[in-house]
This record gives sequence, C-alpha cells and structure tokens, in this order.
Amino acid sequence: MSLIISSRLAAIPYYEPGLTTADVLARYGLNAAIKLASNESPYPPLDQVQAVLRDGVAGLNRYPDGASRALRSEIAERHGLDVDQVVIGNGSCELLLLAGQALLDPGTTLVYPEPSFGLYAHVAAAAGAQAIGVPLDAAGRNDLAAMSAAIDERTRLVILCSPNNPTGGYVPASAVESFLDGIPEDLAVVLDEAYYDFVTEADRGRPLSQARHRPNLLLLRTFSKAHGLCGLRVGYGMGSAAWVAAIDRVRQPFNASTLAQAAALESLRHPAALDRRIQETIAERARVAAGLQGMGVRFTPSQANFILVAPDADDGIHERLLAAGVIVRDGTALGCPGTLRVSMGTPSENDAFLAALSKVLGRTAPVEALAVRVMPTKDSQQP
Ligand SMILES: Cc1ncc(COP(=O)(O)O)c(C=O)c1O
Repeated sequence: MSLIISSRLAAIPYYEPGLTTADVLARYGLNAAIKLASNESPYPPLDQVQAVLRDGVAGLNRYPDGASRALRSEIAERHGLDVDQVVIGNGSCELLLLAGQALLDPGTTLVYPEPSFGLYAHVAAAAGAQAIGVPLDAAGRNDLAAMSAAIDERTRLVILCSPNNPTGGYVPASAVESFLDGIPEDLAVVLDEAYYDFVTEADRGRPLSQARHRPNLLLLRTFSKAHGLCGLRVGYGMGSAAWVAAIDRVRQPFNASTLAQAAALESLRHPAALDRRIQETIAERARVAAGLQGMGVRFTPSQANFILVAPDADDGIHERLLAAGVIVRDGTALGCPGTLRVSMGTPSENDAFLAALSKVLGRTAPVEALAVRVMPTKDSQQP
C-alpha cells in the first residue's frame, strides 16, 4: 500500500550523514578510530554542565519552560539585546527550518550560498519555495555581489553563512553591511554564524550591531560547536522583535528541552574555561594549516573549526584515511569534489590526521607541525 505524500517532499534533497565511528570500526575491522568529520568539539561538555545535567534528570516529569525564559534573558543580557530579540531553537537547524516556514510560500525564492550547509536547500523545499543556490567566490566565501544579483521580487529570504561550511571562508563585516544596504530593507536575511566562536577577524562582532537596528537581519548561533553540546540540540537567533515573533509563531510550544536549556545556561557561565578550548582550536587550526603547507597540500584558509583540504591526489584518499582509522568528511558529499573537510580535534588527534595524510600521500612528514604545538591547558586535557 502506498502513501500519498506532499509534493514538497520530492524536492527535499537527501542529506547524507557522515560515517559514525562505529560504522568505520565495523567496516575496516579496527579497534579505534578518531572522528574529525562533523565539526564537533573534541571535548565533552564542561564538568559544571555535566553536573547540571545530572541534577536536572529528576525534574523531567515536568514540561520545559516553553519560552526558554532564563536562557533567552541570559543571551539577551550578554549581547545587549532585549529579551524579545532572542529566540531559542532545537539546534540552529530548527531555527533555519522555522525561518523557512515563517517566511516562504510556493512561488517565492530562497537565495543562499552553494556549496554551503546542506540544510539550506531543504529549508526552501520544505516550504514549497524555489531554492536558488549562488556559487561561492574563489576564496570559498559567500559571493555577496552574485547573491544580490540573484534577488528578485519573488525572493522572501536570503541566507548568508560566514564562516561558510564547508570552506571556512569569512565575509568581512563591511561587505555584509554593503550587501544589506543594497537590498530592500524589508527582505529577511539570516546570517548563519554557527562558527562565530572560532573567528579571529577583528570585525566579527559587527553584524550583531547591525542586527540591533536592521529589522530584517537575524543572526544564528549555536551551542553545538565551541560549547560541545551538539548532542543536546540548542541554537539561538538574535535580531528584531519582528523576526523573533515570526519564529515563535511557527515553533512547537516546547521546542527546547529542560536539560538543553539548563546545560546551555550553565555553559555560558564559564567563559574562561570555554575560551581556553576555543583558543586551543584556533591554535590547532594554524598548526594543521602549517602541517598541510609543509606537505605541499592545498587548503582553503579557514575561520572555522575545520579546514577544507584539497590533496590533489586520486579519489581513493578518503577511503585510505578511513582504513587508517581517521574519519574525515569526503568533500564530494558536500558539493566540493576532490576535497576533504577535516574538523579540528585534540592536538594528538590532529597529529594522527597529519601523520596519516602524509603516509597516504607519500609525502614528507610535516615535522615542524608535529613539533610546534600549543601546550594543552589543564581544562582542555579532559576529553
Ligand atoms: C553552517 C551551519 N549552520 C548550522 C548548523 C547546525 O547547527 P546546530 O547543531 O545548532 O543545529 C551547522 C552544523 O554543522 C552548520 O555547519
């Protein structure tokens, strides 16, 4: 017996998830593997966050606070916003889908960068709208001039992603501002800043000041990356009260679980511990980049917690790294054939990646990269 389903479903692209560690161990008969494939934090949630999670279990017979009030106010206060300018989601993925539901209709278009986060095409298709993917520029950044040109009277939503996944390219704030100046001021724009914490450019906070006075701009950030909470699913949006109200209207009443809210709140209360981890990831990104350079391997300069590597070798390289117990993401599935997306792990995991790549490519071991490494802080040693 078949099922009659919405015609929208046919347009939803298939999202191919990366391999899990268990998949790789079973497939290659390995005892251990390292996972550098999903842009996760290599470190578990902070100890204090784990304690809050344990304490919170006993209260799970009650529904969560549907408005996530405590978390919203903490985020609002930290960013100089009013509480009604913050919205909480079950991961920023949920907020992207909700933005699509709130703004798109059949006959409208969603303009987004490509290759970028795979969910953007899904956002359009799920709302019955047309997806217009605009190629990146040569540096792997959103091409804002081309995106501007793709906007027409049918466009209801634009998604920008900076740093862009999977390239790591970062668009300067001045370019984002000119882009916003050049489009209709009532055209909704989401700036997906999932990798904001890893940006070292001095202008990284400027889009937030734009969001304070531009009613059409919504910034999306997440607890999934630097905070190491992707398994719990918490993301947030910051923008105008109008944007937040539109998303609140379409979300389910209890979209963020009690434990997710409590953990995110606690994680925000330990900025120094979090910053040590972030600084380590940033330093590791530089060290891995130096290692790649030492091997003569091309890569895209990244402002995120991953690097897109272009080994210029035969297609089997991803497979050979897997067989060596190093799980990285094959760029083909991400719209970047011939590349590998490598998430930054702990220093020793990154060493293992560089050593495996050097072996697989038959290139000289990147000696300097292996030798020069940041001393892990006490906190960051706790994986
Ligand atoms: C650009 C981008 N946006 C959003 C997300 C989703 O994050 P979350 O775990 O908050 O749903 C990801 C996840 O990898 C991402 O790469």
